[in-house]
Amino acid sequence: MCPKVLVTRRLPAAVEERLSRDYDAVLNPEDRPLSADEIVAGCHGAQALLVTLTDRVDAALLARLPESLRVIATFSVGTDHIDLPAAQARGLVVCNTPGVVTDATVEIAVLCLLGAARRAGEGERIMRDGTWPGWSPTYLLGTQLTGKRLGIVGMGRIGQGLARVAQALGMEIHYHNRRRLPADLEQGAVFHEHLDALLPLAQVLSLNCPAAAENRHLLNARTLGLLPRGAVVVNTARGDLVDDTALLEALRCGQVAAAGLDVFENEPRVHPAYRTLPNVFLLPHLGTATLETRTRMGMMAVDNIDAVLAGREAVNGV
Ligand code: DGY
Repeated sequence: MCPKVLVTRRLPAAVEERLSRDYDAVLNPEDRPLSADEIVAGCHGAQALLVTLTDRVDAALLARLPESLRVIATFSVGTDHIDLPAAQARGLVVCNTPGVVTDATVEIAVLCLLGAARRAGEGERIMRDGTWPGWSPTYLLGTQLTGKRLGIVGMGRIGQGLARVAQALGMEIHYHNRRRLPADLEQGAVFHEHLDALLPLAQVLSLNCPAAAENRHLLNARTLGLLPRGAVVVNTARGDLVDDTALLEALRCGQVAAAGLDVFENEPRVHPAYRTLPNVFLLPHLGTATLETRTRMGMMAVDNIDAVLAGREAVNGV
């Protein structure tokens, strides 16, 4: 008998086809987020659970999952929605999808960077509203990126990818990371051991670090105050990294000239004040949203389930 896998959200067709071919796969064609009760019921007799970042896999849910379950594969690189110690205590293998998300997420980081700095959201709205008064030498002036210092917080694969593109735009790269990168990966970027040393230099700041508990509200009234006045802030990592109230105040008073945000605390509920500020470029968590990347993420999740259920080590265990 095929092992049973519960898949909590709809996945790209090629991934669902593979799951249905190789497993007793319980899919979610309606793509409705499942409640904890529905996940528990759907996992009855299952060996694997394939979740996404919209599922809260906390200790309470983990305690209710059946003994048959051996692996939880998350369709994301982020694992902040999973209580990892509780999963480990239950003897469950947890796997994620690193690497394959990099290029698509870098693209969205660049889009947020340009969208915020060059006021693309305002421009687009004006064109749609039909309120463009016409070209003028001082109309909708933005922040030019050439020659500006980009501060990257979190120099993993995505941070490094963003650094490469930003260098091509003529930016000077500074970064803060848990560890300094070797010179071949650093590519001339300047390492700052302490975040507080990076911030005063960062004319543009991009958050690319994981949302660990110690990083919650890493960008707050104090740290925003350390940025040079008129900085541009980009977040394509996780919403919890930013104290929304503090960022909104910084955007209102000009301490931050513009922000490009793809992720939000308490998604999909977005702090309503963001919608009222013209200098925020907003996207609905599109970082990995290409068919190519989402298919690779799904295939990687299934590779991990295959490995664990075949008694091998997970390819991307966390
Ligand atoms: C991830 O992989 O964690 C991304 O946020 C999904 O878009």
